[in-house]
This record gives sequence, structure tokens and C-alpha cells, in this order.
Amino acid sequence: MLPDLAEVLQGLAAEMAVRDDRGEVATYIPQLGRVDPRKFGIAAALVDGRVVSAGDAEEPFSIQSVSKVFTLTLALGKVGDALWKRVGREPSGNPFNSIVQLEQERGIPRNPFINAGAIVVSDVLLADHQPREAIGEILRFVQFLADDDSIFIDSGVAASERATGFRNFALANYMRSFGNLDHPAELALGVYFHHCAIAMSCRQLALAGRFLACDGRNPATGHSVVSAERARRINALMLTCGHYDGSGDFAFRVGIPGKSGVGGGILGVVPGVGSVAVWSPGLNANGNSRLGSIALEKLAKTMNWSIFSP
Ligand code: DON
Repeated sequence: MLPDLAEVLQGLAAEMAVRDDRGEVATYIPQLGRVDPRKFGIAAALVDGRVVSAGDAEEPFSIQSVSKVFTLTLALGKVGDALWKRVGREPSGNPFNSIVQLEQERGIPRNPFINAGAIVVSDVLLADHQPREAIGEILRFVQFLADDDSIFIDSGVAASERATGFRNFALANYMRSFGNLDHPAELALGVYFHHCAIAMSCRQLALAGRFLACDGRNPATGHSVVSAERARRINALMLTCGHYDGSGDFAFRVGIPGKSGVGGGILGVVPGVGSVAVWSPGLNANGNSRLGSIALEKLAKTMNWSIFSP
């Protein structure tokens, strides 16, 4: 008999509220450095339609790299498997903004979740569009998934990231030199910076990710977002690549597909059960939410959610 999920989430929020080992809030994007490190929210959107939450689960935060799950989904919808000619499907074992492998691997990023891979995905979404149309398409897709038009892009965060995005400009220009970027770096990064600046609450994020737990369908409407096979494959990439050079450790400790962002959010997927979003702004050494990872580890253990559980 599993414990009551609402009680488990309340317990986790209470436990996390009093911990001092919260990690460090990201400061390399100045706007992110202003967030209160004591925030903690968690929400689960279950395939049976229930949404259960605790802590600061209704407060929007910068989802940052978690948005790469949604842009990957859109890009696969546009170009299908042709995407894999331009982006790999292997963990990088390197930090999210690393450039080292790009030279040896001739401008093909290891996977769509490291920055270089996500910039290529943005370039794909830019095809036949002005940047503002591509950005609008991404935002509307996320709003559609969460069934919530109040989800917005924090333009202050996007501007802050552009002003300090020297590494991302380097990655984009380097890939363009290998012919793996169809548009000028400036344009592809305009799309990239804006989708990273999408602000969502844990509740909205869990709802937006629920199709991945449900064979690609939105269980509330029955509508298919992607095929069951595509949902499985996105989950596989989240498990193997969703936490950068901490992906192996996250799989080892938590055992579910997950995608992190430097805003301190993590989206986790429990196939057949639901999706879970957690937010705690302090990061560990790999740039993943410290308390968010700990909370998901405890949650998966308590609810027997590891995909490796019999
Ligand atoms: O490109 C960047 O630096 C950020 N917009 C996103 C990085 C990020 O979230 C990495 N995740 N841990």
C-alpha cells in the first residue's frame, strides 16, 4: 500500500524548508541571481487527472533548460528523424555549456539538451519564420500543453541572458562554421534565449510534461501530442542526457527521466503514473537543483516510482 501522495509532498516541502544546504543560486545570468534561495515548490500531475502540490508550487520561476524538452518535441514534429543528422543522442559527460567536443565531432552536438544541441533545435524551429514567430510558436505550444494561457516569457531574463551569453554566441558561431546552423547566431540565439526565459509554476510545468507519462497523449482531453514511440524516446533522452554531467548520478539516485534547468527547476516523468515538477533555486556542482534532486530521490523511493522498480 503506497502512502498518500499529498501527504508525501507536504512532508517533503516541510523537510526542505528547514534545510540549510541549499546549493548556490546561478548568478551568471544576473536576473537569476535575484531569486530567493529559500523557495521550494513541488507538483505532480497524474495520468488520472489529479494534480497534487505543496510549497511554492504556484509561483512562476525561470524554467531555463527544462524548456529544451518542449523545443525538442516541436522540432521532432517539424523535421522528424532528420534532426538526428544535426544533433546526437549520447550523453556528453561535460557541463551544459562546454565547447570541447564540438571541434572533434565537427560541429554536431552530442544531444539536444546541452546548450549547443538546443541552439541547433532553435535553428530548426526558426526555418521559414521570423524569430518572434518561432518564439510565439514555442510559447503557445507550452500554453497548450499546460492548458494555461497565463504562461509567459520573462523578457528581463531573456535580455539578461543575451547580455551575458558570450559562451552561447561562441557555441553558435562555432557550429555555423561547420555548416550546422542555417541562420545567423544572433537569430538562433534570439529564439534560444527566449525559450529559456519561459516562466512557469511547478503546477504548470507538471501539467505541460504530463503527455510524456501518458504515451504522448494529454489524458485530460485524450488528444495525442506525439506518438507513444516518440514519447518513449524523449523520455530516454531525458534519462540519459537531462542532467548533463550529472545524468548518470540522477538516474542512479532517482531512476526516472528528468530535465533540469539552472533556474532550479526539474521536470520528472514517471511513465504510466504522471509527471512531477520541483523547484528549488540553489544548484549543485553540476548546475542541477540541489534540493530538487534530493526531493525527487526521496519521492521516487517513497512512491516506488523508479522506472527500474519491478
Ligand atoms: O544557456 C544557458 O546558459 C541557459 N539559458 C540555460 C542553461 C541551463 O538551464 C542549464 N541547466 N542546468
